[in-house]
Amino acid sequence: MASVRIEEISKVYAGGVRAVDRVSIDIADGEFIVLVGPSGCGKSTLLRMVAGLETVTEGAIAIGERIVNEVDPADRDIAMVFQNYALYPHMSVRQNMAYGLKNRGMDRAEIARRVAEAAGILHLGDYLERKPRQLSGGQRQRVAMGRAIVREPACFLFDEPLSNLDAKLRIEMRSEIKQLQKRLGTTSIYVTHDQLEAMTLADRVVVLNGGRVEQIGTPREVYHRPASVFVAQFIGAPPMNILPVTGNGTGLRLPDGPIVARSDRLGAFRLGIRPEDVTLATAPLPEGIPVSLVHREDLGSHNIVTVRFDGGTELRLATPFGYTLEESARLFVCLPHHRLHLFDAENGRVIRDAFAQAQPAAQEAYV
Ligand SMILES: Nc1ncnc2c1ncn2[C@@H]1O[C@H](COP(=O)(O)OP(=O)(O)O)[C@@H](O)[C@H]1O
Ligand SMILES: [Mg+2]
Repeated sequence: MASVRIEEISKVYAGGVRAVDRVSIDIADGEFIVLVGPSGCGKSTLLRMVAGLETVTEGAIAIGERIVNEVDPADRDIAMVFQNYALYPHMSVRQNMAYGLKNRGMDRAEIARRVAEAAGILHLGDYLERKPRQLSGGQRQRVAMGRAIVREPACFLFDEPLSNLDAKLRIEMRSEIKQLQKRLGTTSIYVTHDQLEAMTLADRVVVLNGGRVEQIGTPREVYHRPASVFVAQFIGAPPMNILPVTGNGTGLRLPDGPIVARSDRLGAFRLGIRPEDVTLATAPLPEGIPVSLVHREDLGSHNIVTVRFDGGTELRLATPFGYTLEESARLFVCLPHHRLHLFDAENGRVIRDAFAQAQPAAQEAYV
């Protein structure tokens, strides 16, 4: 097992596409790191550079104490699990798992021991003589995992390994992978575009956007203390509300609308609040702001309600299941100070502790 150090690495493809732009990540021994971001943000490129399947344009990658930029993929002591499983169709499950070890000239007894152990961990014992086509999607995925496990590598690399599975199986396999990684304690780098998968699997999440790191943090940090509008809207569903506001010295005002928060700041900002942090009431609250009802979705466990301020700005909020709203009711929202996030209007970066005076203790409790 090993730490992995990614230092200021960039990838420029032939033709000039800068797919990864000066990314640095320090991954501790045994840590589960998830790279997450929209399609095309450079996740696979970054992972493939760690694997040695892509050359590094600038920067350095170290696995353990060794810089591996020039090391052959086979000699990096990593094992990769791909989205399409990449199993050999003509080989049995046992042969698929044993193949890489055989190629290295490992002795038969040791191969048999490792395959049996991996098959046990992954509940594949009854399927060892089957061919991949005789397996379900989830079982194939397990074989692909088994092939990685038998190598007992310093680091696992996963590129969207669950994308080809249906939603239910994806959730099951997600928890299997998490438990397996905990049990083996192998340093892991996992790529996904699915923020929920990232949140549930990761010790730390790396949010990528356009080849750059937006934020690195624990799932709680990226959720409760997003570093940018991008992170605030990418992590969490429905996404954080981002309201355009102008500070007049006493409050932050919506375009042609009401003041929604007290602040002594001047100028243009973006104000963020998560749907579940908005309070909705049918009677005027202190600091309540009148809104009209736009739309309501009942999701079973809770409702998502869209309301509109005077001036037209809309806001989404979550209410508990069973919360009923009369179409004609007068509605008011409260945006609690300690749940607000303030972002620079130009570059979208967070302005830390903009509302800290309000209730610093409450915010601390979350991270
Ligand atoms: N072999 C390649 N040659 C040129 N451009 C590539 C190549 N592979 C990927 N890209 C480009 O690099 C960017 C990042 O791609 P990729 O790493 O596959 O993103 P992701 O895995 O996050 O979807 C994209 O703009 C993609 O089109
Ligand atoms: Mg990809």
